[in-house]
Order: sequence, then structure tokens, then C-alpha cells
Amino acid sequence: MHNRYAVILAAGQGTRMKSKLYKVLHPVCGKPMVQHVVDQVMKLNIQEIVTIIGHGAEMVQAQLGDSSKYALQDQQLGTAHAVNQAQSMLDGKAGVTIVVCGDTPLIKAETMEALFKHHEELNAKATILTARISDPTGYGRIVRNSAGLVEKIVEHKDASEDERKISEINTGTYCFDNLALFEALKNVSNDNVQGEYYLPDVIEILKMQGEVVTAFQTAEFEETLGVNDRVALAEAERIMRIRTNTAHMRNGVTIIDPANTYIETDVEIGQDTVIYPGTMIKGKTVIGSECQIGPNSEIDSCHIGDQTVIRQSVAHNSSIGAQVNIGPFAHIRPESMIHNEVKIGNFVEIKKAIFGKGSKASHLSYIGDAEVGSDVNIGCGSITVNYDGKNKYLTKIEDGVFIGCNSNLVAPVTIGKGAYVAAGSTITKDVPGEALSIARAQQVNKENYVQKLNLKK
Ligand code: UD1
Ligand code: CA
Repeated sequence: MHNRYAVILAAGQGTRMKSKLYKVLHPVCGKPMVQHVVDQVMKLNIQEIVTIIGHGAEMVQAQLGDSSKYALQDQQLGTAHAVNQAQSMLDGKAGVTIVVCGDTPLIKAETMEALFKHHEELNAKATILTARISDPTGYGRIVRNSAGLVEKIVEHKDASEDERKISEINTGTYCFDNLALFEALKNVSNDNVQGEYYLPDVIEILKMQGEVVTAFQTAEFEETLGVNDRVALAEAERIMRIRTNTAHMRNGVTIIDPANTYIETDVEIGQDTVIYPGTMIKGKTVIGSECQIGPNSEIDSCHIGDQTVIRQSVAHNSSIGAQVNIGPFAHIRPESMIHNEVKIGNFVEIKKAIFGKGSKASHLSYIGDAEVGSDVNIGCGSITVNYDGKNKYLTKIEDGVFIGCNSNLVAPVTIGKGAYVAAGSTITKDVPGEALSIARAQQVNKENYVQKLNLKK
């Protein structure tokens, strides 16, 4: 196998998006388009990946980190000019370079691998990934000669009436002999309707030099969709969603209504888990097997054990154990750690709290900045008073504690092992283990007081 290099084009502004956000950073299923491309390219056994950055250079670089090297394209003079910015990094190196646009988020590693193979088998200097589509408007067209061999690519704006009828398009992904590529780039001119240096012109240049130029046509057009505007963005989102949901279903996950289930691409879900409609699962969430998630739930970057049920709830950046029961209408905020067999019920908000095994907060509670032991029962309406307007303080509730309904635990405070807090208490001092703490006004019953009031009338 040859040495392999990759150039990813990501310097454009993306004018047609009409957005402050640079085009390649627009997310598809939660992940920026260019990240999708790089994630796939990274599966290809490539020696060097160079991303061409310009508009939003710092943001693109921050997004991709050190998975790529970077070359800056100061002015966006066209795709050939963009590739040429990688010259100092790649020129003079023997091997095959794949060029991919940062705005084709659906492209798959397998397709690029097949493109490499085709290119290598035919010993070509350039191989274009092409597709046949019903509406080729906007794409470069593949012009073939009478023998069916590729002659050149004509951009939509430069194409004649007849050329516009061609339904085979340039997907914007190519393999090039690396040495031939940089040699040919020297001869690309900007003599066209857009006054840009077009990378596709390299094809005609190589062809005229008598080199072997081939096309590899993919059957899956959807994969090569180039996103230039928000209509295409929504289309990419739809296709990616179907692809992701289908893969989960094939892996043994039940998705009741795939059209209304939004699972980002890095999510993992175990077998026999059921996902109910209206559910969004985001980030690097990992869900165990035999869970029930949804309906109408949002899970972001959580780790969830087996046989856990989460209904109509929101959970972010937290770890949730096995056989946990959450919701309906619970909110698990970041940095919470909920151990096995916990119950977090209706209208309960948890923030940065640990819940030990088997503990329960079944109704109407706020538990924030807290360490709750195991087998604790937090009664309806109880809260941790964690904030004095300036700082946040910790509440510790040790194993086996029973907190009566409607209690305020004013932090910092510790409720010792096995203690009871009477309903309606406002606890401001530590409670020793095994104690009963009552901190509320004494009840006074004034006998016959109602009659007295009536007499006065
Ligand atoms: C390009 C192709 C077209 C192909 C289509 C596939 C050219 C001239 N045309 O058209 O044949 O059918 O992709 O989707 O290549 N970029 C830079 N620097 C620049 C210009 C562009 O980095 O100076 C980047 C953009 O950020 C984008 C990619 O190159 O990620 C493609 O540019 P874009 O303007 O979207 O090209 P298309 O008009 O879609
Ligand atoms: Ca494009």
C-alpha cells in the first residue's frame, strides 16, 4: 500500500448558510460537519491529515484539536488554491492524497476506502468520487468522452445547457497521486465565471498530460451530499439520523418511532433497551441494556447502567447506575452520581450530588451539592439549602437517614447515620447518628377559639 495523506477543505465562510457560524462548524446530529469528516478520515490509516483553515480558523482548530495538522488559507481563492496551502507539508512526498470537503458530513470511511482501492488498482493519477443524482443543480458535472472516459469536470455556473443535463456529479472527494497533484496545481488558472482556482481543473490538466484519470461512482448519493445551505443541512440531519437509528436497531435496540428519536452519532446503547418517542440522546452517552428511555427525555453525556428507567426527564453529564428509576419530570444536572437502585421521582432536581444505593427522593425535592448515603429516604418537598447568595455548601446525609417531608437542610450540615429529621424541620446544625431532630415551631392548640371569634362578630 502507498503512503496515504488527506487534505480536508474547511476554509470557506459558507455564505449560503447566512450564518455567523462558519459553515463546516454547523452541527449535524450534534457534531460539527468537519468533525464528522475527520472522524471518518481517521479510520483510513493515513500518515498525515492536513486541514485547510481560513474563516473561523481558530474555532475550527479548537474543534479538531491535534487529530489534524493545519494550513492557513488567508484568502479563499478557490478549492485548488486551498489544497495548495498544504504544499509545504505534503509536496515532494510519494503516495496518494485524498481530498475531502469539510461540508460533506455524511461521507463514510468505507466509501473512501473503496475510492483508494479503485485508485490504486487502476494505477491512476486522479480518481474522482462521483454519484448520479436526479437534481444535480449546483454540483460540478462529470464530462466523459465517447469512450466513456472522464475528460474533465465543469462547474454548474460554467456549464453549457447540454453539460447541465449531465446527472453524474463531482462529490468533491478525490484521490490524487500526491506528486502529480502539486505539480498540476501550478497550472490551474482562475479563468472562469467565479474567478476562482478550481480543484476540479486538475482533472483536465492531468488528462491533457496523458495521465490516467478515473471516476469511482458510488451508489449511495446520500452519502456525498454537500451542505451549502440550511435546506441541505436539514437533509443531512435527516439522513444521519436515519443512519444512526438504523444501526442501533440492527444492534438490538428498540426504537418505537425512529422519525421522532434523535440520537447523536457517538452514543452507545445496549441490547433490549427501548427508546420511546420524543427522546434526544446526546454527546458521548452510554446506555446499558434493558433500559427504558423516554418518552420525551433529553440525555446528554451520561453513563447509564442496565435496566434503568428514565421517563419524561432531563439528565446531563452524570453517571446513573443500574435499575435506577427516574421521572417522570425529573432533572439530573451535571456532576451527579446516582448509584444502583435509586429512585428519583416527580419534580425532583438533582445537582452535583451523589446518591448511594437504594436511596429515594420520590417527590418535589431539590438536592444540590450533596452526598447522600445508601438507603436514605428524602421525603416529599425536602431541599438542601446550598447557597447563601455567594457560596455553595455541602450537605451530607449518611446511610439510612430518613428526612421527613418539607425539610430544609441548611448547608454546610451533616445528618448522621440512621438519624430521623421530623417533617417541616429547618436543620441548621449537624444531627448526630440515630437521633431524631425536630426543628420547627411548637404547635399550639387554642381550645374553643373559633367560638370566641364568632362571639365577637
Ligand atoms: C465543490 C466543487 C464541485 C462539487 C461540490 C461537491 C469546486 C470548484 N467545486 O463545489 O465540483 O460538485 O464541491 O460538494 O471545487 N473551500 C476552501 N477554500 C476556498 C474555497 C472552498 O477551503 O477557497 C472549502 C469550503 O470550506 C468547503 C469546500 O472547500 O468545505 C468546498 O467549497 P464550496 O464553496 O462549498 O464548493 P461547491 O460550490 O460546493
Ligand atoms: Ca459545497
